[in-house]
Amino acid sequence: MAVAKVFKLVKRFDGLPKEDDFNLVEEELASPKEGEVLCKTIYLTVDPYMRVYVAALPLGITMIGEVLARVTESKSPDFKEGDLVASRQGWSSAFLATSDKLEKITHLPEGVPESLALGCLGMPGRTAYFGLLDVAGPVKSGETVLVNGAAGAVGTVVGQIAKIKGCRVIGYAGSDKKVEMLKSLGFDEAFNYKTVDLDESLSKAAPKGVNIYFDNVGGEFSDTVLTKHMCLFGRVPICGCISQYNKKGNEHGLFPYSEGKMLYGSILGKQLKVQGFIVTTFNDKKKEANEQLAEWLKEGKLKYKETVTEGFENTPKAFIGLLTGENFGKAVVKV
Ligand SMILES: NC(=O)c1ccc[n+]([C@@H]2O[C@H](COP(=O)([O-])OP(=O)(O)OC[C@H]3O[C@@H](n4cnc5c(N)ncnc54)[C@H](OP(=O)(O)O)[C@@H]3O)[C@@H](O)[C@H]2O)c1
Repeated sequence: MAVAKVFKLVKRFDGLPKEDDFNLVEEELASPKEGEVLCKTIYLTVDPYMRVYVAALPLGITMIGEVLARVTESKSPDFKEGDLVASRQGWSSAFLATSDKLEKITHLPEGVPESLALGCLGMPGRTAYFGLLDVAGPVKSGETVLVNGAAGAVGTVVGQIAKIKGCRVIGYAGSDKKVEMLKSLGFDEAFNYKTVDLDESLSKAAPKGVNIYFDNVGGEFSDTVLTKHMCLFGRVPICGCISQYNKKGNEHGLFPYSEGKMLYGSILGKQLKVQGFIVTTFNDKKKEANEQLAEWLKEGKLKYKETVTEGFENTPKAFIGLLTGENFGKAVVKV
């Protein structure tokens, strides 16, 4: 009988999550029945949305999230031993699933790490793709694209797709090393938001303003950009607001912007298109995005960056590290 290691959520997050908000347990897995598949997790992903989404879920659940796994035993005609699959099974080292809960992964180019199916060739890559090309699109060559959280899983891909489309790309991230990395990925300008003045640096980097502001961060950063730096008919895909996720007392709720009149006056006066979006809304075009991202990777136009934490037991550490900026590119855990 297979045994799975599983992290349960046992406490409500209070500010930044802590390791003892999770409890590691072992669960026995039955042998697969007709239509079921037994899988062994290879990689887990840790993502910012987990910080927010679990607030509405009961304590005691297996911590949520997608995993990349290998089929070890199948009683389904759709899967065979050795298949690579993705599934939303949460933080577990092995699991039993019905075949409708599994997605076969077949779009990875030869020779790339399998973990990319959770990164630039997975959900974060598709978020960048749809957010930029569908929500903010059409993207025109020569436009100025600003992205914050730029050195993360989504941000690194946003900047590179914008370069592929001929844009001038400006990125903000939380350390000088991340800034160096962004320049190595082809960003035209990159800044450490912890050490530069946003207003001043952006005035110099984008003197004519920003056409597309891909917002991963929200909060004061967005107040400044939206009130002072957008071009006429600028587009603002609101992807996330990570600056607010760990706030105690939920001062801003989930809505990242203050209610200053200037902000709304600016959105109105400059006729900005500001649109929140969720990646899964575009699931009908998932194949198109996966294939295009894989093609760019093969052509060397898209480079991947990831931070791999070794060991299932270290998943909470990797999650906390993600929320404190330790990751370069996609944060994953190798089980
Ligand atoms: N809408 C959707 O469907 C969708 C899908 C995926 C992700 N998202 C959102 O996209 C954003 C990026 O996600 P990701 O997976 O790519 O994560 P990520 O950028 O790989 O990791 C999170 C990064 O956020 C930065 N950060 C943390 N606290 C911050 C703060 N107070 N101010 C500014 N930056 C802060 C840190 O980098 P620094 O060192 O630069 O601070 C950290 O490395 C998140 O807001 C996430 O919720 C949305």
